[in-house]
Amino acid sequence: MNHSMLANTAATLMTTGKGLLAADESSATADRRFKAIGVESTAANRRAYRNLLFTTPNIERFISGVILFDETIRQAADGGVPFADYLAGKGIVPGIKVDGGAKDLALCPGEKVTEGLDGLRERLADYFKLGARFAKWRAVITIGRNIPTRTCLEANAHALSRYAALCQEASILPIIEPEVLLDGDHTIERCEEVTEMTLRATYRALAMHRVSVEHVILKASMVLSGKDCARTAGVEEVAERTVRVLKRTVPAAQPGVVFLSGGQSDLDATAHLNAMAAMKGLPWPLSFSYSRALQNPALETWKGRAEQVRSAQIAFHHRAHMNALASMGKWHPELEVGRG
Ligand code: 13P
Repeated sequence: MNHSMLANTAATLMTTGKGLLAADESSATADRRFKAIGVESTAANRRAYRNLLFTTPNIERFISGVILFDETIRQAADGGVPFADYLAGKGIVPGIKVDGGAKDLALCPGEKVTEGLDGLRERLADYFKLGARFAKWRAVITIGRNIPTRTCLEANAHALSRYAALCQEASILPIIEPEVLLDGDHTIERCEEVTEMTLRATYRALAMHRVSVEHVILKASMVLSGKDCARTAGVEEVAERTVRVLKRTVPAAQPGVVFLSGGQSDLDATAHLNAMAAMKGLPWPLSFSYSRALQNPALETWKGRAEQVRSAQIAFHHRAHMNALASMGKWHPELEVGRG
């Protein structure tokens, strides 16, 4: 375990005015995204699309790290340089999704636990050789009638902690992502309560497993009204509730918190981050680690057409720029005027 390497990786990822691009969609998720734009999801098309994103001119001004999928870290940019080396050459830290996906949790109907611990030590060693310097593991917590159960919260916290310990041992910075899902008709109050329980269980387990919180980044879901809730909370309320829960649960020693977008609209994800980052006196820097909220306009513009690559890169560059401003509390809706 190399503490200074872990600390350097965390500091680089949390560079002021930059955030992360989550481009680690599993093949199944990529299939869904490509189907929606009428593009066949082949390895070659997925490579071409990731190439479009990563080769966007000047994207390193706003993006400090990119999370890759196993297939992608083994692919190369146009010209033949492996993607991990290509990104590192731009000063962007390559990362890797290492979880095996959320599977049904036995005897707990409607709940999931994330798999992927078996053989993880060996896979991390392999990913380190391929250039990965940070990793991601996503747990999903569903809100519903009588769920989440304590069983689900503890099972996911345990898996996240064992993953984080293995990463630190391998000098790969762990990003822990316990995502409370947006799906459902629950209120924002209920989301706040569940997010607090989730984070408490997670940090308890991290301590139990000897994980150093100085060398972990939290990828958090925001506290939001359920997608089908009758009342949708406004930007200020989301920001206040989210920061309140984080302050209660996340140690000040942690180097940073990044957010997932989780199905929010692109503009909501930016506005929410901006409102939180504008708050004074937070113990950790906040930024983004978005997949959909960074990529949606680029995907829509591209639709698999080579002649649209440049326009799609401009769309991606714009969202990265807007979120970079939001991570400093410097975004304003007028900056979006005239943009798709
Ligand atoms: P979204 O921003 O689309 O929620 O994706 C982030 C992510 O990495 C999910 O694991």
